Amino acid sequence: MSSLDVIILAAGQGTRMKSRLPKVLHPLGGRPMVLHSINTASALTGMPPVLVIGYGGDQVRETVGDAARYIVQAEQLGTGHAVAQAAPLLRGQSEHVIVCYADMPLLRAETLRALYDVQRVSDGPFSMLTHLADDPRGFGRIVRDGGGRVTAIVEEAQATPEQLAIREVNDGVYCFDAGWLWEHLPEIPLSPKGEYYLTDLVEIAIAGGWNINAVAVEDSAEVMGINTRVHLAEAEAILRQRIAIHWMLEGVTITDPATTYIGADVTIGPDTTILPNTHLVGQTVIGSDCAIGPNTWIEGATIGNRCVIHCSVVEHATLEDDVDAGPFAHLRKGAYLEKGVHMGNFGEVKNSRLRRGAKMGHFSYIGDADVGPDANIGAGTITCNYDGKEKHQTVIGEGAFIGSDTMLVAPVKIGAGARTGAGAVVVKDVPDGATVFGVPARRQDDTKG
Ligand code: UD1
Ligand code: CA
Repeated sequence: MSSLDVIILAAGQGTRMKSRLPKVLHPLGGRPMVLHSINTASALTGMPPVLVIGYGGDQVRETVGDAARYIVQAEQLGTGHAVAQAAPLLRGQSEHVIVCYADMPLLRAETLRALYDVQRVSDGPFSMLTHLADDPRGFGRIVRDGGGRVTAIVEEAQATPEQLAIREVNDGVYCFDAGWLWEHLPEIPLSPKGEYYLTDLVEIAIAGGWNINAVAVEDSAEVMGINTRVHLAEAEAILRQRIAIHWMLEGVTITDPATTYIGADVTIGPDTTILPNTHLVGQTVIGSDCAIGPNTWIEGATIGNRCVIHCSVVEHATLEDDVDAGPFAHLRKGAYLEKGVHMGNFGEVKNSRLRRGAKMGHFSYIGDADVGPDANIGAGTITCNYDGKEKHQTVIGEGAFIGSDTMLVAPVKIGAGARTGAGAVVVKDVPDGATVFGVPARRQDDTKG
């Protein structure tokens, strides 16, 4: 028997998002919202949590894959009913069960752990997270007796005017003694609204003579539920700030955190500076001592140490150490810039390797090419890689000098140390050390004498 299982409720439709996409798949910090609670849960247990899916379930399953185990709640008959669907899978499997929501992405693993720690040493059947809300609207209210003992959670629809004034609210996150949960879950009555409320377990426990622990959450942002796109933007801002603080404390300078967008899956080395209006997206890795931005988009890229990327777009590319790019460089999928490559302004590189020390300073397109070490690509050079049907390869040898405005009509090979004149249109391979010029390009020696 394992010690702890986590059930994440994700079956609701999320109508107020007004979206074709299931609510829990809306991105937050660059990843689908549901993955935040899944990661939090598996950080705690080391196991994929159980996700209760319903609305849009197939899509959710497709996105989440084997990061979760799945239970289908075909009809959404309330939070108590949702948890009950997991009974056949989980009964007898663990000592404790945590229940939380997929639309509460900012909840921290430490907070779940604190809840678990309280329940582990408690004689009571469960513990739950609560907080004092400035505006308790929408939440179930925590009712206590004269002695401060929790006696009920009252849903807003059923609350009396006095109960509506209560500011202590239920966050919907519980840690149960698993044996007690599976035994008493079937006792939840049908509510006047035709649902089975998980919150009714409080009264069932009290009637049985048990006590419930309320664990106070200090930072109410953690238990914020996402119901609308307004909430989504608020959560995004909070998450963005958290991520920026994390990296600043790890030694990264972020000149203006308010205009810096760092995804949840990005890593950054110390003494790197991120300048304003920079977006670091997806599985991006940035080394140390780099200067990135301003106005830069980097997605799914790996950047080495001491790189400078200025006002540029980098997508699914790899840069080794000491590379500089921009302003206005565009590195596309499969671009690989080895150590010390210089890529200046208005260049585009796709599916190409620029070897150690190669330089392309100005206005060039390098696609499907292999550029040798220390080669110099003159301004306006273009690899004409596409003949209308197929893509072809260009190979440029070590130390080659490509004159300004050269058209390299692929497939074509420029030898090591070869040179092309300004404006050359190269349609044939150029041997090592040769010089070609003109349209179509011919050997310099051919014209002599
Ligand atoms: C619930 C609590 C309320 C608490 C609030 C905190 C109950 C009865 N009420 O209310 O006390 O203050 O959360 O946010 O539990 N879900 C399913 N299947 C269902 C119903 C819901 O998976 O049949 C999921 C939803 O997708 C959602 C979560 O459970 O992620 C909460 O459901 P929701 O209907 O939003 O509960 P609230 O009315 O907000
Ligand atoms: Ca809700």
